Amino acid sequence: MADEALKTWAGKWALITGASAGIGLEFAKLLAAGGTNLVLTARRVDRLQKLAAELSAQHRVQVEVFSADLVRPEAPVEIFKFTAGKNIEVELLINNAGFGAFGYAYEIPVEKMLEMIQVNCSAVVHLTRLYLPEMVARKHGDILILASLASFQAVPFNSVYAATKAFDLLFAEGVAEEVLEFGVRVCALCPGSTTTEFQQVAEQPDRVFKSSETAEKVARVGLEALAAGKSYVISGFMNRLMKEGQRLAPRRYVTRTAAKMMRP
Ligand SMILES: NC(=O)c1ccc[n+]([C@@H]2O[C@H](COP(=O)([O-])OP(=O)(O)OC[C@H]3O[C@@H](n4cnc5c(N)ncnc54)[C@H](OP(=O)(O)O)[C@@H]3O)[C@@H](O)[C@H]2O)c1
Repeated sequence: MADEALKTWAGKWALITGASAGIGLEFAKLLAAGGTNLVLTARRVDRLQKLAAELSAQHRVQVEVFSADLVRPEAPVEIFKFTAGKNIEVELLINNAGFGAFGYAYEIPVEKMLEMIQVNCSAVVHLTRLYLPEMVARKHGDILILASLASFQAVPFNSVYAATKAFDLLFAEGVAEEVLEFGVRVCALCPGSTTTEFQQVAEQPDRVFKSSETAEKVARVGLEALAAGKSYVISGFMNRLMKEGQRLAPRRYVTRTAAKMMRP
């Protein structure tokens, strides 16, 4: 890309949730290289502090760290108070934190399912709602929301996860249209299989994922799309092809095919 796109937020502040691993960590690296100051949040604060020290030394950007567990409904307000307390104007909000849980919906602990909805959906809505008014008032600001290729169809044995990602996509696209006239951009990034800690956290078998993309590539695609004013982007040619293919096939067929791929 377009290292130009990376410089879109130079000298400004970006807030990244889930910056301790995977795609979130790559957003942090790319944005720091483009001169963006960062607020990094996740639960594993030791990782965030190490990353903050590396990025501020390498790129001479300011990096703040805030430990937050997005399972807790209060966490978004705590993050917002942290940035407000430091007079940080968040120009770019990246709602990246998320997780999945692989298995039969009747076996996955219900607490885990509800926590997934809290982290993947409620926290995304809450953080967006907290930062959006000031973006609208000043007539600029950007929000990136991590959706997925799973946003476009049901995924058996990942049913709750796919439903949360469908929510994220539709939420992002809807709000993108609402705030366009105020100079605020919102984009949903839809990756396919990406090499991160996600599969391990979701306890997903390796065989499901064959042709993964790198987290660095996916993060670049997301930032580039946001800078270009797109309301959603699918990372990877094969993933785009797959999405178009499934649109033409009967929904039941698409779901059955996914079930065959995913079955434990
Ligand atoms: N990897 C894929 O194949 C793929 C495909 C499509 C979409 N995505 C989406 O991409 C996003 C990033 O996932 P990833 O692949 O980079 O996974 P990852 O390597 O497991 O990273 C997930 C990040 O989310 C954070 N997180 C998880 N639960 C959290 C909680 N309760 N509170 C705060 N932070 C939490 C983790 O930090 P801590 O554990 O330190 O809290 C970590 O930084 C997710 O929204 C995921 O749905 C991933």
